Amino acid sequence: MIKKIGVLTSGGDAPGMNAAVRAVVRTALSKGMEVYGIRRGYAGLITGDIFKMDERSVSDIIHRGGTVLYTARCPEFRTQEGVKKAKDKCDELGIEGLVVIGGDGSFRGAADLSAMGVLCIGLPGTIDNDIACTEYTIGFDTAMNTAMELVDKLRDTSQSHDRCSVVEVMGRGAGHIAVNTGIACGATDIITKEVPYDIDAIAKTMLEKQAKGKKNFVVIVAEGVGHSQEIATMIQEKTHIETRATILGHVQRGGNPTLRDRVEATRMGYYAVELLEQGIGNRVVGVKENKLVDYDIQEALSMTKPYDEKLHHIAEQIAF
Ligand code: ADP
Ligand code: F6P
Repeated sequence: MIKKIGVLTSGGDAPGMNAAVRAVVRTALSKGMEVYGIRRGYAGLITGDIFKMDERSVSDIIHRGGTVLYTARCPEFRTQEGVKKAKDKCDELGIEGLVVIGGDGSFRGAADLSAMGVLCIGLPGTIDNDIACTEYTIGFDTAMNTAMELVDKLRDTSQSHDRCSVVEVMGRGAGHIAVNTGIACGATDIITKEVPYDIDAIAKTMLEKQAKGKKNFVVIVAEGVGHSQEIATMIQEKTHIETRATILGHVQRGGNPTLRDRVEATRMGYYAVELLEQGIGNRVVGVKENKLVDYDIQEALSMTKPYDEKLHHIAEQIAF
């Protein structure tokens, strides 16, 4: 029976990480385990920035964005020596199991630490929803809702000026935020890396729509495509419609988590501790058809995630 576990958040923060930390801590305590909070991801594990948590350590955090454990990117942990230091710290404190809340990079680190004998469970936490082994990642819903609200505001001013608004949303490697925000905001066009696009064709259809009475336009661009300002300039040059570019940026990573993120984070946190309780490690938790599942970390990392092209095409087909 595992007696002591640790919990850390790593990589980019995501709303709902606090709810996951809370669930891990309270579940472990309810099962009679000791729980240690590790600050700033793997960096804190290496330096020993670790503290014992009790039931009150996670009071008043379920509704807060960011992560009370802080997060970091830790280059040292990518080395054998770094992982060894972390393992030694776990041994020193008697930490046998670890819940790692983060993205693919964090899971690679968790696989390395698992190989050294610490039971690690990865929970998918990233606003981008770009983790292949799960249909859902903690933070995705909040980020999309934030992006949607901001695009709605931009639409008000675009409408008032008969303008086109080009809006870049987050998603370095995947267009999941872009396509969902685009459809929710009734965007004229959605530009992601997953679907080829042609600025001439976009400009041409914009002019056709304008000829039929449409006066303002919203184009959503995924961060991974980049060049939002250039795209806006080209649209303006080709259509003579006044166009502004806005990069929403990190505001999408903050804010109070939505109900969905709190619930998903809580059930995942609970599930992670159940796995550790059974002595199971080297796993990543995912959602499949709304049920929680878990995979070997390497297997999880080798999976690929489909992009919802159907949603993309629906958005385009009805944007006239
Ligand atoms: P995310 O977890 O959001 O994908 P990163 O890719 O920045 O974020 O990874 C977070 C941390 O995980 C890194 O700073 C590093 O400490 C650790 N990590 C990332 N990749 C590896 C790897 N290949 N091997 C070991 N640790 C890794
Ligand atoms: O967490 C995912 C993400 O928000 C990406 O969409 C974005 O490209 C990246 O993190 C930015 O990370 P940072 O500015 O923290 O390096």
